[in-house]
Amino acid sequence: MIRDIQQEILRLKKENDICILAHSYQAHEILEVADHTGDSYALAVKARSVPNKTVLMCGVRFMAETVKILSPEKRVVLSHPEAGCAMADMMDKDIIEQVKPLYKDYTVVAYVNTTAALKTICDVCVTSSSAVQIVKNIENKNILFIPDCNLGAYVAAQVPEKNIKLLSGGCPIHAAVSREDVENAKALHPGVKILVHPECRPEIVELADFVGSTSEIMDFARSSEDTEFIIGTELSIAEHLQYEFPDKCFHPLSVGLVCKNMRLTTLVDVYNCVRGMGGEEIELDADTIRDAKHCIDEMIRLNHE
Ligand code: 13P
Ligand code: SF4
Repeated sequence: MIRDIQQEILRLKKENDICILAHSYQAHEILEVADHTGDSYALAVKARSVPNKTVLMCGVRFMAETVKILSPEKRVVLSHPEAGCAMADMMDKDIIEQVKPLYKDYTVVAYVNTTAALKTICDVCVTSSSAVQIVKNIENKNILFIPDCNLGAYVAAQVPEKNIKLLSGGCPIHAAVSREDVENAKALHPGVKILVHPECRPEIVELADFVGSTSEIMDFARSSEDTEFIIGTELSIAEHLQYEFPDKCFHPLSVGLVCKNMRLTTLVDVYNCVRGMGGEEIELDADTIRDAKHCIDEMIRLNHE
């Protein structure tokens, strides 16, 4: 049954000139029909060069908006209309408009997990895999980092030469990982490396053996000789790794690491989208696209050694 739906998706996406991008948190059967998979940076960059008329983003709203901003001439569809991001939704443009005058000499760095509207008043975007490098390359010493204070704290620790101010915001799912979760995991799996996403709180990041984006965590596990890992990000990553390496063991750091928004999209949603019946087409006005594009272009320009 799953194979039949997948075959139909493959046929229809070709027939309708659709490229499917899927974030690493998506279900295995969705990743199997995608043209490109990866973390939010990889998908944002890929979106610029795909030749298809339509891009279907299997992920959450800010990811689909990023594709639309970078490729406004394309039809961009979000796989599920309700797939938002709790972090992106917690900080809107009005708040930052009020805060900005207090930080006049600061470069406003926005995690890509923000709305398109908020991006219009920010200077540079970053993703979890690019944030440290980009902040290093920003000329200004003074940085206002929004909205994730946990990723911001991680960047501040890696780039101590910068004066980084944080606002309080973040991913509720990663921020809920506790010291007790780490202690329990260590007690259950002594000596096993802990790999975490930088959206976890600083006290968790400090206890980890490796910190990286979703793709970086997967790459670390792929290239390591170890046979067991504790995975501190959305449960799907441990599941994908377990599928890829059936002889190794991937333990979740916490069973609470479930992003409901990322799990909304089903294979049937993807099927409906490729036959033009589901999802939501992303519509952004020309001013929003123009103003938000600046900070995404800056992200790509500044992400170099
Ligand atoms: P990545 O950039 O690691 O894909 O992170 C996106 C995200 O939302 C993690 O929660
Ligand atoms: Fe947003 Fe957190 Fe879900 Fe990532 S895991 S998409 S940051 S709510």
